Amino acid sequence: MNDRTLCWHLSESVKQAMEYAMRSGKAHEIVGESCLGGTTRYFDKVAETAVVDYLAAHKIPCELVSEEIGHVSFGDEFILYLDPIDGSNNALYGLPFYCTSLGIMRDGSSYGLVRNLAWEEWYEGISEYGSLYNGRPLEHTPSSCMISLYTKKGKYIEELQDYISKIRCLGSVALEVCYVAKGSLLAFIDVRDKMRTTDIAAAKIVLESAGGVMTGLAGEPLDLDENHVNIIAAYDAKVHASLVRALRG
Ligand code: IPD
Ligand code: CA
Repeated sequence: MNDRTLCWHLSESVKQAMEYAMRSGKAHEIVGESCLGGTTRYFDKVAETAVVDYLAAHKIPCELVSEEIGHVSFGDEFILYLDPIDGSNNALYGLPFYCTSLGIMRDGSSYGLVRNLAWEEWYEGISEYGSLYNGRPLEHTPSSCMISLYTKKGKYIEELQDYISKIRCLGSVALEVCYVAKGSLLAFIDVRDKMRTTDIAAAKIVLESAGGVMTGLAGEPLDLDENHVNIIAAYDAKVHASLVRALRG
């Protein structure tokens, strides 16, 4: 099974599991803590378990790195980064903007799928090839000026004054970064010391395959083994450079 087919099947398992959990009436119940300290709700767990079960049943030889459970080893052919449901609060409270995020890293290649679970829309990034939107080459929306900003205690609001009336914060990081890849958002900036690999791995592949740039706030490369990072994801290198300059003050 190739990476695209695998990720599609996994996203389908997540979708069905999530729909089942939503119907159960206990989707919101807290059932534990994620390996990095956040809250795990019933529907996060059910969605993640669907992926774990699929990987085990089909003997997929990967190292799974997932938001709730952490690392699970089924083999060592590739790494699969998973955020079963990104935008859990949106999903729970009826804001139709949430997704599942799957990123495969192999030696020399990568593939990412970010699938909107609220309506049919999906983004793929294929290294060495490019990005796809709903299965077709991704076309850029011309020149959005909106920025998604996740701040803490107003950090960087001053530096981003020029963009202040165009700031958004939509509640699903992976989807927002894909919207940057498409050009619906000019950039995505998160300065909360909070981003985890599982949040951004798949979307980073989509963005970079589309010609976008994702780095730390000073323009440094991101270390995907690190969690609690800050990021700038920009539509292209020019936008990226001007935002790095703006944040420098
Ligand atoms: C969350 C969303 C949200 C962001 C949080 C993430 P989750 O993901 O992406 O937009 O503010 O930092 O944790 O918890 O729903 O997977
Ligand atoms: Ca999640």
